[in-house]
Amino acid sequence: MDITQEACSNRNSMRFEEGKQLIGQILSDFPTRKFPIILDIGCGSGNLTHVMAKLLLHETIFGIDSDPDMVTVCQNSNSTTGTIKYLCQDISQPWDQLAPELTQLAGQVDLIVSNMTLHWVTDLDTACKNMETLLKPGGAFYFNIFGINPISISQQQYLKHKSVANQIFEMVGILHRNELEVGRAELFYNRWPYAGKEFDVLAPIMYKMYYNLIDEAEFSKLDKIGQDEVRQEIRNGVHAAYAFDVENEAKNYVVGSGDSFCFCYYAFTIQGGKMV
Ligand SMILES: C[S@@+](CC[C@H](N)C(=O)[O-])C[C@H]1O[C@@H](n2cnc3c(N)ncnc32)[C@H](O)[C@@H]1O
Repeated sequence: MDITQEACSNRNSMRFEEGKQLIGQILSDFPTRKFPIILDIGCGSGNLTHVMAKLLLHETIFGIDSDPDMVTVCQNSNSTTGTIKYLCQDISQPWDQLAPELTQLAGQVDLIVSNMTLHWVTDLDTACKNMETLLKPGGAFYFNIFGINPISISQQQYLKHKSVANQIFEMVGILHRNELEVGRAELFYNRWPYAGKEFDVLAPIMYKMYYNLIDEAEFSKLDKIGQDEVRQEIRNGVHAAYAFDVENEAKNYVVGSGDSFCFCYYAFTIQGGKMV
């Protein structure tokens, strides 16, 4: 398992907690509803897909992820249940380029869930159009999104960063123009404590997230000193990026030093569905 997969499969991560909150919302909105077909977009290591399989009444859950390594992790997982099917798929591909296993679900999906993934997707219009085509009339969606611009942005673009409120507004606009109705959009602010060691595991991912300068493969080729330098740069860089963010009234930043860090961030949840 490489460094990214290890970080992504951590069941105690901030992302996993948020995922559980998202599923809690679904259960609170629909305590007894059965969702025969569920689609988990950006299923990562499949940890949350498993929680869905345990808690939501369903027949089949399709977990898709654009990273083939993550899909392999899911498929090799000992705890894979018979009702989950994993597929390597980028949700933002044009419809005619999607895998037939996915397009055959057109108009049949009862629930789409996406936890902490859509901020990675740069072509959100195509992704939402695909989701609309996949959903059944009356089908529901629940997403939560990290409050930053898509991760492929360059540092220069980052400096023209929009406020989180504007990102929510934009996301709602994209959903509307793709004929998806928004029921609720909620902003939440959270703090997540990291031990120094955990932060170091996440460092290359964060680095990529904010500066798009190095990937995990390059990072793992560096010697210890090189890796420590990159980590230090990330701490400084993330701090600097978020200091800018704070001026814009979005309080995402990393505080702490030595063995303990706290990552403070905004995320938002959007819930809605396809019109009947
Ligand atoms: C932060 S992880 C979240 C994983 C999982 N939802 C969870 O809660 O543990 C985001 C995942 O989205 C996947 N991803 C990014 N862009 C994607 C896209 N366009 N289509 C499908 N998956 C994507 C990444 O490969 C990654 O595994």
